[in-house]
Amino acid sequence: IKKVTTNTLLRLKVNGEKISMITAYDFSFAKLFDAAGIDVILVGDSASNVMAGHESTLPITLDQMIYHAASVIRGTERALVVVDLPFGSYQSNSDVALASAIRIMKETGAHALKLEGGEEVVESIKRIVRAGIPVMGHLGLTPQSIHKFGTYVVRAKEEAEANKLRSDALILQEAGCFAVVLEKIPAALAKEVTESLVMPTIGIGAGMHCGGQVLVMHDLLGINTEFKPRFLRNYLNMAEQVTGAVKQYIADVKNNDFPNESEQY
Ligand code: KIV
Ligand code: NA
Repeated sequence: IKKVTTNTLLRLKVNGEKISMITAYDFSFAKLFDAAGIDVILVGDSASNVMAGHESTLPITLDQMIYHAASVIRGTERALVVVDLPFGSYQSNSDVALASAIRIMKETGAHALKLEGGEEVVESIKRIVRAGIPVMGHLGLTPQSIHKFGTYVVRAKEEAEANKLRSDALILQEAGCFAVVLEKIPAALAKEVTESLVMPTIGIGAGMHCGGQVLVMHDLLGINTEFKPRFLRNYLNMAEQVTGAVKQYIADVKNNDFPNESEQY
């Protein structure tokens, strides 16, 4: 098996082939996604929402991210595994950021890290990159700043915020990022930023012109049916399928249909 590396992603961009990325948080799903041929698995801090049930990504800890990341790595043979630095593990200063980055790399076997923000975090990104750790940026709707934004609506619709995003994208590229996630921004802006960069962009709610796309596995698989943003396509209705299967199991147990003669010792 030929492993996906950060160089592979750049080659995909040069060849005009889109990059596919999905989140995973555990061994079993990572194994399925890897075998299906996904290019990049993101151990997102969205684990805070979809795994732990928090309302935001802020509560998840570095130790918890390390647990998820190590599990994903054990299920992965081919995909590039990128891990989110959680809120609080890099914002204070670049020493803290580098120490957090090194902990994740050492304790999980991950291949790359992702952190949110532009110019504010550039010093930390430079130091992490200098340590030999590939970094993916993340601009637009950055959920760790939800209390600054106040809502999860589309970002960078106004010119001032769009301009900052344009400049942040270049700053991240200069700092040595190998790719950048663009979350929930107008498609026209994402197109323009994508064309201005050498590194690939990976969009979520950022339209068709990005170099790749990323979705949270629970959204893509229809596990969480209440979340229905415009950018989301459900490839499965897993909530319905799981509910049906478990209802059938309950009925079989209650009716003495499970286990049957051939299912016992
Ligand atoms: O944590 C996450 O799932 C993410 C993606 C939505 C890009 O950062
Ligand atoms: Na994230």
